[in-house]
Amino acid sequence: MLAAAGSSIGLGNIWKFPYETGLHGGGTFLLVYIPCALLVAFPLMMAEVLIGRYGRGNPIHGIRHIAKQEHLSSLWPVIGWFGLISSFLIFSFYSVVASWILFYIMQSAMGSFVGVPAEIVQHSYGALLRNSDQMMLWHTVFVLMVVVVLTRGVRSGLERALRIIMPCFIALLIWLCVYASQVGDFDQALHFLASYDLAAIDAELVVSAMAQALFSLSVGIGALVMFGAYMRDERSIASAASWVMVFDTVFALLMALMIFSIVFAFGMDADSGAGLIFETLPVAFSQMTEYSVVWSTLFFTLLLAASLTSAFALLEPIIAALTQGMNISRRLAAWLVGACAWAGGMVTVYSFNDLKFSFYYFGEQQSNGVFDVLNIVATHVMMPLGALLIALFAGWRIHHGETKSLLAMRVEVAYRLWRFCTRILAPIVLCAVLVMVLFFPA
Ligand code: PHE
Repeated sequence: MLAAAGSSIGLGNIWKFPYETGLHGGGTFLLVYIPCALLVAFPLMMAEVLIGRYGRGNPIHGIRHIAKQEHLSSLWPVIGWFGLISSFLIFSFYSVVASWILFYIMQSAMGSFVGVPAEIVQHSYGALLRNSDQMMLWHTVFVLMVVVVLTRGVRSGLERALRIIMPCFIALLIWLCVYASQVGDFDQALHFLASYDLAAIDAELVVSAMAQALFSLSVGIGALVMFGAYMRDERSIASAASWVMVFDTVFALLMALMIFSIVFAFGMDADSGAGLIFETLPVAFSQMTEYSVVWSTLFFTLLLAASLTSAFALLEPIIAALTQGMNISRRLAAWLVGACAWAGGMVTVYSFNDLKFSFYYFGEQQSNGVFDVLNIVATHVMMPLGALLIALFAGWRIHHGETKSLLAMRVEVAYRLWRFCTRILAPIVLCAVLVMVLFFPA
């Protein structure tokens, strides 16, 4: 459970949620995001865990096992392979964003932002992006950290540490919200997140909200299948998934509240995109009069811990598949995957500077080349497609009696609602998203 919460809380909540919300008008985004999360991502989260509990293995072996039991086509395990490719693509940009956190930990620890005017602090992010050597260095450090942990198998220890890290993180986040309400413009942030404009809801907003819900809850690449396989049978899937969902959403909302309080107080742009948290957080800390170095270093370190656990969840299935499929040691598999992931991430590093190019997507200019391409392909195409396949498999192919007994929900109506969302609602929404992205992205 804790591992699932650890993997779901990550850059999706900390980095992507605030900037997507800022780009799409605050409350207007929330208005679409919340139903997408509740009615599509959440039921599919349960579906993935259910597949894990039934198949008792990684996505490829587990789904193969279920397909045999249910006399289904032997093509279904393709979902597992598909998930591995998606994980790799996500990691290629995830690791680069996470490595920016390392840069900010260093800067915070050295006290580089203490007492510096907000406009100057804000520009440190742009300067980092222009410096490919600096980015390469931090990216390499981040990938090394992930690989070393994965080869040593100290992951379980780290997940135990989450028991302490997560409550600390939430406490610090609440404290920062209180702080932001003093130095920042809390009222305007609340107003921004609570007001909406129905006329502003367009195809791009719906696609982004759906993609964000899947990304934040780690749905659509088979990552949750592993958790289902390890979860004890007496533990209810619905209640575990509900906890993860609540945690994930509260985290994202607190983060957004804090960020926007700072944004409005210092006259920054809410819609500045992927750099939003890296431009605002250092500003917030630079305004602190006491212990700024301690708080900022601590906070960025907690952000790093949260993104590390998600990074493990992204690479672990690939390493497991390689170890089993090619009969090589875990160590070798981890280094091989790490080397490829490093190379993939390097392309992203250069997409902010030397290899920068721009293109149009839903009428908006995207100027970070490969980074934007990866972000769109992985989260707007691969994850919805994976989620669709999971919905079809769990909703239509696994026998009704089996899903009912695996989910063991006490309230019949709740089970029916899950079934309706998985069989009908989710496939319709996900197909609509895919049609918009693939055929009308101009
Ligand atoms: N949910 C993670 C986050 O919010 C990202 C992730 C996606 C992790 C898919 C694992 C699998 O950062």
